[in-house]
Amino acid sequence: MKILFLNGPNLNLLGQREPDVYGRATLADIEAQVRDRARALKADIEFRQSNVEGELVAWIQQAKGTADLIVLNAAAYTHTSIALRDAIAAVGVPTIEIHLSNVHAREEFRHKSLIAPVCLGQICGFGAYSYVLGLEAAVNVIVSSKTP
Ligand code: DQA
Repeated sequence: MKILFLNGPNLNLLGQREPDVYGRATLADIEAQVRDRARALKADIEFRQSNVEGELVAWIQQAKGTADLIVLNAAAYTHTSIALRDAIAAVGVPTIEIHLSNVHAREEFRHKSLIAPVCLGQICGFGAYSYVLGLEAAVNVIVSSKTP
């Protein structure tokens, strides 16, 4: 059970970036939390971050045949990137959209997700725990798809 966690722009700054919105945990802290839970669920996870849209597109493409599922916090690209949306649709690797903050309770430009229509579902608003929920949902989807 291989799950790829992809993180978009500015998420490398978690911990110091707008802590009132995103919390004090760094991306490394969040990864450690997810790894703990993944161990218990016997899931193999990989965690990556990039500030570059094309790199995220390349990673989504490479996930075909190498990952069972992608958990994606596309950060600001959520609201702007047709390229990410097309990559998810093109490779067909099931993808779950996650956000730390409740994007629907924030500025109007964050209410629209270009990737949501090609994702299985969206988890947002639970801070670092959105990542753990993303993992739980991913495992549930994979296990259900393998159970006859
Ligand atoms: C975010 C929400 C996005 O609107 C924002 O651009 C981010 C982080 C979140 O995790 O809450 O960078 O994806």
